[in-house]
This record gives sequence, C-alpha cells and structure tokens, in this order.
Amino acid sequence: MSATAQKTAPMPGDIRAMKGGTPIVSLTAYTTPMARMMDAHCDFALVGDSVGMVLHGLPSTLGVTMEMMVMHGRAVSRGLSRAMMVVDMPFGSYEESTAHAFRNAAHLMAETGAAAVKLEGGRHMADTIAFLVARGVPVMAHVGLTPQSLNTLGGYKVQGRGDAAEALVADARAVDEAGAFAVVLEKITAPLADRITAEIAAPTIGIGASPGCDGQILVVDDMLGMFTDFRPKFVKRYAQLGQTGEAAIAAYAEDVRARRFPASEHLFAEKAPGA
Ligand code: KIV
Repeated sequence: MSATAQKTAPMPGDIRAMKGGTPIVSLTAYTTPMARMMDAHCDFALVGDSVGMVLHGLPSTLGVTMEMMVMHGRAVSRGLSRAMMVVDMPFGSYEESTAHAFRNAAHLMAETGAAAVKLEGGRHMADTIAFLVARGVPVMAHVGLTPQSLNTLGGYKVQGRGDAAEALVADARAVDEAGAFAVVLEKITAPLADRITAEIAAPTIGIGASPGCDGQILVVDDMLGMFTDFRPKFVKRYAQLGQTGEAAIAAYAEDVRARRFPASEHLFAEKAPGA
C-alpha cells in the first residue's frame, strides 16, 4: 500500500515499512501551492535546502539558513494533508555537536510541524543520527553526492565509482545502523545503489541512482522543466513549464503594448442606477 492511501499522513515508521514494497514517491516542495499539487500523489514531500538554489538564486546550498527552512517548511505544511513532510537541516546547523544538532532539529520540527529532518553525511554523522533518534527526532540520512560538501567533494560529481564504492557502502551501513528511517542515495552508480538497497534495512530513496531503490525523489522544479538552461542527466522532464511560462509572459507583454489587455471582459462597469 502506498503511504498516501492512508487516511492520515504517514509517519516515518510507515515510510520505513515500505522497504521492498511499492516504490516510495517523493518530491521536493518549497511553497504551499506546489505542496498542494503533490499532496495526493507523494508519500512524502521534502523541504530541501535546494530551495536556496531553486527559489532564491543562490549558487549552492551553503548559504541556506535555519530561518529559510522554517519559512518554507511552514509554507509547505499548509499545503499538505496526506503526505508526510521532511525538512532539511541546513549547512552549519548540525555538524558542530550532537547537542547543537538536537537544538536545531527540535526547532525545525516545532516551528514547521515536520515529521522528520534530513541531514547529509555517512559514518561521521552516525553518532549524531543515533543521538537525535534516541531523543525523538526521526532522521532521513543522505549519502553519495552530498551538495553541502561540494567544496570538499570537488563539485557535483558521481560518487562511489571504483575504489570509492566500499566507503560509500560503509557510509550507508553506518547511518542505517544509527537508526535513520530512510536513506537518500544521490548521484551514485546504479549497481552500487542496488547493492546498498539490498544490504541495508532502511529504504533507499534514489536521485540519480537506480530504479531498484525503494523510492525516488526529484527536485520538483527540475521535473516540471522550470529551468530552460539546466538539464541534469538524472532528471526526467514531465513538463516544460519554463518554456510555457516564458511564452505566456511574452504574449502578455505584447498584449499590454498593443492595448489588447485588459479587454472588455476584464473591466468593471458602473452599476446601472437602481440595480
Ligand atoms: O535539497 C534537496 O533537494 C535534496 C534532494 C535532492 C534529495 O536534498
């Protein structure tokens, strides 16, 4: 059963129980209208820190703040009634110490109503994940390409190829054993994603990974084709909203300049006396 077939929003345990069953469906969400659009179709919506690049035009996710995550988390929660909401912990909000991570995770959950948080990192984050889970914070882990480590990874490269595979398997095992209820696998080879999916207890959520993952996630603006100049290999475009939107704006501009808009049907007349 998909988690969205339930009457109430799924909990992290329900998502975990979907391991090996019907694939888990998820997308990122940053606003109320977008959350409304996906609510009936997704098992969970992720308020990803990709919001910084997608909506705020930042060059990476490194400049995303707790305040931004709270603001977008609140907006998304207003659009969801069936899908679960997970909120990303931004760069700098969880790495320093377990206590710091707990304070910020609790703040995100309290302020947004999120059922869980997501954080990036493998073996080095296992203690933090175990600390949060033991204190009531469900954690979605994220290994492989972890965009917050862009500067140490040397860019947005495919991870885990060749000799690097064993380290990535060790990362996935560590976050699984630490109690993560699901693990995002980003931009790794398909055979490696399949191996990790077979070896860990938590469901894997792939992005640029494999159809064999227990679920999939995409950045919603990417799959809707909002950007005309950004086409990552792992994204399938289900619409061309960027092109359609630009054509609509061009048509509006022409209408305004030609005084075709507003037309009579858009105008208000005086009410007839006595009407
Ligand atoms: O922030 C984000 O959008 C993400 C997904 C790509 C998994 O972390």
